[in-house]
Amino acid sequence: MSELPRLVIMASGRGSNYQAIHDAIEQRRLAATVCAVISDRAGAGALQLAAEQGIDTVCIEPRHFSERNDYERALMTAIDGFAPNWVVLAGFMRVLGSDFVRHYGGRMVNIHPSLLPRHRGLHTHRRVLEAGEDEHGASVHFVTPALDAGPVIAQARMPVARDDTADTLADRLLPLEHRLYPATLALFLNHRVELRDEEICIDDQTLAAPLRLGRDLDDDGRLVRPGDG
Ligand code: GRF
Repeated sequence: MSELPRLVIMASGRGSNYQAIHDAIEQRRLAATVCAVISDRAGAGALQLAAEQGIDTVCIEPRHFSERNDYERALMTAIDGFAPNWVVLAGFMRVLGSDFVRHYGGRMVNIHPSLLPRHRGLHTHRRVLEAGEDEHGASVHFVTPALDAGPVIAQARMPVARDDTADTLADRLLPLEHRLYPATLALFLNHRVELRDEEICIDDQTLAAPLRLGRDLDDDGRLVRPGDG
């Protein structure tokens, strides 16, 4: 049997996106293996979930380091010890320095709860409402040194209703994130997806716009081409 692609997941919080990736693997929608969950917070739910599921966990807290570079070097040593093919940020709430990001260039991805390039950074649900937008969503993107600004691979979209609040938007978006992330990771395994000079290539074709879940990309990471089906 060929070796499965190895994922290191990095998470600071409750870990529902990690859980969605784990479930997709268990349900054989995603042919990969999670070799570790790494966190910057000892109390992260993601660490607890992973430990219960028999996945290796590592917690490295920044408070033990006086310099950010030293902290990130310790993270890199831990990650590299698992020899991952992909580093998957799933609610990892730290801005990573450019040495770290370059070290994993083209093999580190993140999920962000907005339709990037709109609403980089925090409080995206509130900002969508403040901007009076009628559409919201989530994006999976390659990580590059500028925060939430790397090329977007795929997005899930949903309408904003008149009576939505930041909480209802967050609640409705999360299940879409749980479909989008495993589907995008499966895309990497089904096709040759590469970052070349800040452009995404899929099977050597430049991706002109992010793939849209349910339209261009199915939940198993297959490309839906016009006329298919
Ligand atoms: C998600 O909303 C994700 O988009 C953002 O952080 C949150 C993580 O949630 N980057 P969880 O820990 O995966 O439940």
